[in-house]
Amino acid sequence: MADLTEIAGRLEGLHLFRDQASGLRAVIAVHDTRRGPPRGGTRLRAYASLAEAADDAARLAQGMSYKFAVHGVPYGGGKGVILQDEAGAKDRPLLEERLRAYGRCLERLGGHFATGPDYGISSREVDVIREVTSLAIGEHGSQAGPATAAGVRVCLEAGFARLGLELAGRRILVQGVGTVGGALARQLQAAGASVLISDPAPAGVALAAELGVDFVAPEDALWADVDALAPCAVGGVFDGATIAGLRCRLVAGAANDQLVGGAQAADAFAERGVLYLPDFVVNGGAAVLLTARLENGSEPEVEVAEARIRATIAEVLRRADGGLTPYAAAVELAEERLGD
Ligand code: PHE
Repeated sequence: MADLTEIAGRLEGLHLFRDQASGLRAVIAVHDTRRGPPRGGTRLRAYASLAEAADDAARLAQGMSYKFAVHGVPYGGGKGVILQDEAGAKDRPLLEERLRAYGRCLERLGGHFATGPDYGISSREVDVIREVTSLAIGEHGSQAGPATAAGVRVCLEAGFARLGLELAGRRILVQGVGTVGGALARQLQAAGASVLISDPAPAGVALAAELGVDFVAPEDALWADVDALAPCAVGGVFDGATIAGLRCRLVAGAANDQLVGGAQAADAFAERGVLYLPDFVVNGGAAVLLTARLENGSEPEVEVAEARIRATIAEVLRRADGGLTPYAAAVELAEERLGD
């Protein structure tokens, strides 16, 4: 695992926070602010060490820089990470104290970094952070989750179209049915797809029962015999071994940082004849929606974000026509725009 100095070397800024009273430990990574001030969600997750948390924040912040750039949004990449531990997982009032302490950390950065939901931080947690700062958005009533889901849905549609298929009638496995994956499962079913659900939490089984769809055990999710796979949980899903075992033709999902080893993994998809659509393009719905809210004071319609994602994925696929993988085409496009 990289050390903090090496991690900071990949970033414009690396902020480490500790709150004595609540036991909060948090990291805010700022990757690239050439396009504008840093924005990005905050996640809540257990890590083996502070360096591991900082490394995750750094990769995710880089993903945000690419996400904003590729979708033409005038912001820079940042990400917050709150380290979860046993006490925080068991004791909701303690967690809420930590969330408020985190909100005060955002204030200490003087408004430089504004944040919102991510893995482990839903609108319910954003509401608590907002008790002390307006620098967190995506609170109760926000359509950030459905907007991200809508973006994934239109990318699945575009991917199937590329394969000469329609989304209706296709078997699509949604891996992870939290705020985004749950909304995606519902939207795909409404669009006529045959949905399958996988999630280690009991809520996954419950949603499968509610929608009347098949539940797949988490350990079998990646190898399921489906047309498409939509990873909507944590990243680091695809390396040489998992790509070798895939039985689908298309992968597009909401999870951030899905590829272990970036371009090399994208090439492995291509060699297997599986169409992989890059996560930072596919999952940009909330980034488009929430930054528009920061700019205009109110959230635009989900359809606005959906249209943005549809336009970007079309552009990426057009660029990929020249023989690039969609991943390489999207990185090229993002880097061009980062340099503008
Ligand atoms: N965390 C989400 C993402 O990775 C949504 C988000 C975007 C939150 C931008 C805050 C700011 O895209």
